[in-house]
Amino acid sequence: MDKLVIRGGNALSGTVTVDGSKNGALPILFATLLAEEPVTLRNVPRLVDIRTTVRILGGLEAEVQEDGDKLSITTPNEGSVTAPYELVRRMRASVCSLGPLLARRGRAIVSRPGGCAIGDRPIDLHLKGLAALGAEIRSRQGYIEATAKRLRGTTIFLSGPFGSSVLGTANIMMAACRAEGVTMIEGAACEPEIVGLADFLIKLGVPVEGAGTPTVRVEGVDSIGGADYTIPPDRIEAGTYVIAGAIAGGDVLVENCVPGHLRSLIDILTRMGVRLEIGDSSIRVWGATKIEPIDIATLPYPGFPTDLQAQLMALMCRADGIGLITEKIYPDRYMHIAELNRLGARIRKEGPTAIIHGGQPLSGADVMASDLRASASLVLAALIADGITEVHRIYHLDRGYVNMERKLSALGADIRREYDETGV
Ligand code: EPZ
Repeated sequence: MDKLVIRGGNALSGTVTVDGSKNGALPILFATLLAEEPVTLRNVPRLVDIRTTVRILGGLEAEVQEDGDKLSITTPNEGSVTAPYELVRRMRASVCSLGPLLARRGRAIVSRPGGCAIGDRPIDLHLKGLAALGAEIRSRQGYIEATAKRLRGTTIFLSGPFGSSVLGTANIMMAACRAEGVTMIEGAACEPEIVGLADFLIKLGVPVEGAGTPTVRVEGVDSIGGADYTIPPDRIEAGTYVIAGAIAGGDVLVENCVPGHLRSLIDILTRMGVRLEIGDSSIRVWGATKIEPIDIATLPYPGFPTDLQAQLMALMCRADGIGLITEKIYPDRYMHIAELNRLGARIRKEGPTAIIHGGQPLSGADVMASDLRASASLVLAALIADGITEVHRIYHLDRGYVNMERKLSALGADIRREYDETGV
């Protein structure tokens, strides 16, 4: 397996450009299953998860043409209705094939996603929503089979014990596009990725209202056209580089982002004493000399995103004093604590809360990436660790960050990828 070799201590400076949003693109790629006319998607990030999705779409008989960051997709009415375990196990977002496939072909057989390094990730809300729309759901031999001659619009309350579900909301919105009548989703996720999906569905000709609020209204239609749509920038990638700038800048300009999607991060960093300059589509950040500890919790949007929790923890290792993070979305999403501690950090987990004793000197070591955002956190910590850190199992990083080592290297980091010739 490839690894990253990082020598800490270089100050970052320069400009880094953010790619298209992974979590924005994934549900939209599945939504192309609804379209009877060709769809063109632009600014699609070139990531492993996108390739996995394209393979799933191909298995469902969609014709996908790739040209750099542009994808052209045509999906016939008839075709396979099965998303196999072999692909679904690689990426939980594949569960988003259920809604559109069922709506388009009347049947969907999708492998039940398995366990995940960030904790338990049930799909009960997805299934509850589809059942409310009139789908018959069966679970057998590790697969979920959903059938419905025609879905029927209804009002669905979609929030669960940890709040709203992003992909659950997306799945039900997509299924509702071809349902008879109007679907009201109450307790909908408000994340920008849901707004992006709604914009795409509207381009396809489906009336969608309320995206970005807890109540989303989708009016089912009989036929769905094509569209040309540009994927918005990745707010988590942008946030990761803003935190990198705070940890190890220098003077870093993160461009091609939507600062409005990162209000909670901007607020937290400002309270920590980090100097920021917010532009229309950029955030400039200066490396902080003194960092104040802070007490924060991850929350659904517009709260602080769980997908930036691990990266912020790396910054909190530099704070003068004790900081707290409480993980309210995935209480077990703390695999990075042990690895950060290997670098010399002093972090203790107490239930869903991490207690970070900032100010400990970090020194390079071999560390293991456990999931996508944990990997990013280890890379950020390595930038300020004394000596060399080797981050192993970086295939996780490749699922969500386009050319991270090249982008950091262009900012002045001493970072290189060592390829594993054996391909293991
Ligand atoms: C999306 O996952 C993202 N993935 C995740 O990003 C992100 O961490 C998460 O939203 C939260 O923001 C994609 O968009 C592809 P949820 P999703 O359903 O939609 C519980 C990354 O690093 N829940 O909003 O699957 C769940 O356990 C990834 O890029 C139920 O109880 O997350 C969690 O506690 C990782 N039942 C909470 O809701 C359900 O049926 C929110 O999860 C579904 C979820």
